[in-house]
Amino acid sequence: MAVDLLLGLQWGDEGKGKIVDVLTKNYDIIARFQGGPNAGHTLEFDGIKHVLHTIPSGIFHKNAINVVGNGVVIDPVIFKKEIDNLKKFNLDIKTILLISRKAHLILPTHRLLDAASEAAKGKAKIGSTLKGIGPTYMDKTGRNGMRVGDLELDDWKEKYRSLANKHEAMINFYDVDIQYDLAELEADFFMAVKVLKELTFIDSEEYLYQAQKAGKKILAEGAQGSLLDIDFGTYPFVTSSNTTAAGACTGLGIAPNQIGGVKGIFKAYTTRVGSGPFPTELFDEDGETMGRVGNEFGATTGRPRRCGWLDLVALKYAVRINGVTELMMMKGDVLSGFKKLKVCTAYNYKGKKIEHLPFNIEAENVTPIYTEMDGWAEDLTKMETEAQFPKALKEYIAFLEKELEIPIKIVSVGPDRTQTIHR
Ligand code: GDP
Ligand code: IMO
Ligand code: MG
Repeated sequence: MAVDLLLGLQWGDEGKGKIVDVLTKNYDIIARFQGGPNAGHTLEFDGIKHVLHTIPSGIFHKNAINVVGNGVVIDPVIFKKEIDNLKKFNLDIKTILLISRKAHLILPTHRLLDAASEAAKGKAKIGSTLKGIGPTYMDKTGRNGMRVGDLELDDWKEKYRSLANKHEAMINFYDVDIQYDLAELEADFFMAVKVLKELTFIDSEEYLYQAQKAGKKILAEGAQGSLLDIDFGTYPFVTSSNTTAAGACTGLGIAPNQIGGVKGIFKAYTTRVGSGPFPTELFDEDGETMGRVGNEFGATTGRPRRCGWLDLVALKYAVRINGVTELMMMKGDVLSGFKKLKVCTAYNYKGKKIEHLPFNIEAENVTPIYTEMDGWAEDLTKMETEAQFPKALKEYIAFLEKELEIPIKIVSVGPDRTQTIHR
């Protein structure tokens, strides 16, 4: 049985959490393949709004097992909070949540290093979520990291000490003023590790292999978005993992020929949180309206998200890199009330019209070329079928499908699980 993927096609926060929750009824296993607590995946159902950071978004369904894959980085302190927040739902966490022994651990000093690195960059800062993501993946690729499986060894505290000492020397190397009380941070960390160790650790690649062999249906859940991919995103303003389809292979141990459908999620407009280029960003009333109506504030950091028109140049790029087989359009309801909508279909790049994403999309090189379309006034949030859609929305969807050459299979018209129209 092939493994399906679900991933974000923009700069994150496309609505992955909501759609994974909606789709979980069709799957036996939901497996997160990369990223860490920099992610914030929001689910809304039965009047409950819940944000997950490291735990896969299938956790509220009785039928599914949730796997935190080897490609994920785990902060025990945040993980413990996530587990605590789930207590009121009476879930059998030890059974329905399985953690890869090969997943790397975020130490308190990784978080401090993230803060020191950002402070040292000054104006050029990435706008990191300061969760320690970059330093943890650096230790992973530098072959210094600590993994979940290490916690089962007797000498793990020695390994921890030696890595934390090294980190302290590195923090001192940065000429910045970072205030911290390591003893306090470590007390929290050790307590959280205790809680983590009560959960179920597995050799996840073996588990997923056997599950696949037994015909189980697996959905791999991505974090962040394609334009934040370490290789294909707007480097250096990216995260430190491969957020694109290939990341699911390395982040779970799934062979490329075992990948089935690739579900790509995008918002009907574009948002970005943190620094970095964003060609279609709006600084006017339209952008302000998208932010207000769409409630565009980071689910992890609470920072306001930058907003702008849909960028088809970037979206086509993401569709190709990921091999997307079906699309999901989110938050169309936020565009209700705009008289005219703009979609970027090409860039003016150093005076020349281009239709691909070039090496550098900084504002001094790129200005978007727009196609203008009619907007719609109708409130979409209570619509239950496509037949109820206003004509202009149908035209918007048809235009995107023609441009992207991939069908849009889901149109989301609100944050709740039920506000989802399948086509
Ligand atoms: P993720 O990181 O991709 O899971 O997305 P986030 O949870 O960070 O951000 C998406 C936000 O939009 C959340 O607050 C969702 O509840 C909300 N949302 C998802 N789909 C829709 C939709 O179709 N319409 C509206 N208005 N909000 C939505
Ligand atoms: P989800 O899964 C939106 C952004 C940060 C910053 C850059 C690097 O909820 O879509 P990092 O902490 O990874 O070093 O930050 O990436 N970023 C996200 N933006 N959604 C996310 O996750 C993000 N995770 C990281 O804002 O610009
Ligand atoms: Mg998010």
